[in-house]
Amino acid sequence: MINIAIDGPSAAGKSTIAKLLAKQLSYIHLDTGAMYRCCAYASLVNKIDLNDIKALEEMMNTIQISFNEKGEVELNGENVADKIRTNEISMRTSTISQYPFVREKLVKIQQDLAKSKGYILDGRDIGTVVLVDAEVKIYMVASVEARAKRRYQEYVNQGIEVDYNNIYKDIEQRDYQDMNRKVSPLKKADDAIEIDTSQLTIQQVVDKVSSIVLKKI
Ligand code: C5P
Repeated sequence: MINIAIDGPSAAGKSTIAKLLAKQLSYIHLDTGAMYRCCAYASLVNKIDLNDIKALEEMMNTIQISFNEKGEVELNGENVADKIRTNEISMRTSTISQYPFVREKLVKIQQDLAKSKGYILDGRDIGTVVLVDAEVKIYMVASVEARAKRRYQEYVNQGIEVDYNNIYKDIEQRDYQDMNRKVSPLKKADDAIEIDTSQLTIQQVVDKVSSIVLKKI
């Protein structure tokens, strides 16, 4: 058993690929973005201003984040997997994830879980911070246009009305915030393999990653 780290910007296909690969290998997938989203969701529900560090620290000391057997994230025992997927939460998450006290708590949970190997973690800092010893590190990228189109299509499929230009702008802004924050910014680990998914189908990406993984197990 090995651990697999998949990092990259939002909507590059990390979670989709990680989920499929986990099924194929009988590994456990941890969507670390969902954990950061839970913190943003908790701050919204509790009406905490994102500049109020003291209140956020208190909140982080009290909340519990876990995953159920289906791999869906739970906040204080409540399944919030759907509630954390709004655009408002995405932007809020990118802001709250800049705080070291937020990251420290979540990184510890992720490292403790992955100790036993057989994990696929997707996020922004897995190969650089959380699992520096991961046997396979993938850095998944795609053009802003390809990613905005995918997100747009996802919303359309769910019957949600959205503006394509807003999605495009939000992706650009989130990229900027995630890549330029002081703590654990999104960047490719030196030993990560980069895959550009802009022109690839989901199956083509799964095949590429699984051929890399199969050489290591
Ligand atoms: O992957 P997802 O788009 O759900 O992540 C939401 C946000 O959570 C990202 O934009 C990023 O700010 C933050 N995040 C992070 N580190 C991770 C995973 C997500 O900072 N490992």
